[in-house]
Amino acid sequence: MTILVTGGAGYIGSHTCVELLDAGYDVVVVDNYYNSVPAVLDRVEKITGKTLRRYDCDIRDRDGLEKVFSENKIDAVIHFAGLKAVGESTKLPLLYYENNIWGSIVLFEVMEKAGCKKIVFSSSATVYGNNPIPYKEDMPTGDVSSPYGRTKHFIEKILGDVYEADNSWSISLLRYFNPIGAHESGLIGEDPNGIPNNLMPYISRVAIGKLEKLTVFGGDYDTPDGTCIRDYIHVVDLARAHLCAVADILKTTGIEAYNIGNGKGSSVLEIINAFEQASGIKLNYVIGDRRAGDLPAFYADPTKANTRLGWHAEYGVDKMCLDTWNFQRKNPDGIR
Ligand code: NAD
Ligand code: UFG
Repeated sequence: MTILVTGGAGYIGSHTCVELLDAGYDVVVVDNYYNSVPAVLDRVEKITGKTLRRYDCDIRDRDGLEKVFSENKIDAVIHFAGLKAVGESTKLPLLYYENNIWGSIVLFEVMEKAGCKKIVFSSSATVYGNNPIPYKEDMPTGDVSSPYGRTKHFIEKILGDVYEADNSWSISLLRYFNPIGAHESGLIGEDPNGIPNNLMPYISRVAIGKLEKLTVFGGDYDTPDGTCIRDYIHVVDLARAHLCAVADILKTTGIEAYNIGNGKGSSVLEIINAFEQASGIKLNYVIGDRRAGDLPAFYADPTKANTRLGWHAEYGVDKMCLDTWNFQRKNPDGIR
């Protein structure tokens, strides 16, 4: 079986390529390296001892994508390619709509033309907006606070309409919670350009001395320690969820959404504490103002993925912090 992985050189995509290759799938990657470097794919090959096919191609490039489908018999697609910075999306909404939504439409059209109608889509917990916690898949979605989040919601809806029009599609919408951690080898991990927006890469850059101090965004939330609560999930657990989803779409038709989270919330201060334990480093941090748009607390009810996909998260926050720090220490200047 051959799986096309769009955005396969990115953080979650690269970990998923490792799991796919280890499980015996052939892997074809399409990436324009907007937020990654080709060397990541060399490292995926080093970890697995296997090779993958790679195309330096933008998903908005219809001719380029058609070439990928004509040169490979693709059985299913895992679609990671997209822009993901929430703050940036509020400043550059058209770029986000064009890249994420238009890029996805071109991909779906090329898939349809090639007769490949099986896809796993990277969605996000952000689609739930202000629902009661824990989030469940049948809750209403779409009350979303950023253009980025709206691209996820709209693409879910587009895929819903695609399935309504043609029931031979098989579609899995994976709603990720907060992926952190890295591959145990320390060869691949999260390596954002510039100053990180997200908590864990910020923490690890403070720990390695590249940033001076972490600001905890708000200490006055209505949570046990006053800081926000999120459902952190090890990126390898998340990657493995894609294997379960691929196995499922290969044998069925339909459209299903799944929460991919641990089902447990951790506060920012708990994550800081876990990182300090794992690294042995005292983190320099201050409690600052709230960040606009942050919800006080959310976490998943992952029962549907547990029971229907047979997927379970294995790792806790200690392992997530250990592997993050291992990656950061081994790659102080990122992946080159
Ligand atoms: P990432 O930026 O590390 O990876 C995305 C990859 O897609 C990059 O390699 C980038 O170069 C590529 N890409 C972007 N636009 C492209 C285009 N037009 N054509 C070809 N390649 C393109 O991000 P990630 O953290 O690995 O996230 C993967 C997916 O999961 C994204 O769709 C993201 O929105 C979604 N997601 C991520 C998180 C998270 O916290 N990391 C949470 C929920 C959902
Ligand atoms: N935080 C800080 N300081 C920082 C960065 C983050 O205190 O420097 C806090 C935030 O306020 C939040 C928590 O750490 O309480 C986690 O923040 P992240 O930015 O790491 O993650 P978010 O929960 O805000 O959002 C992430 C992705 C979204 C995705 C969402 C759910 O960025 O794209 O998880 O999957 F939608």
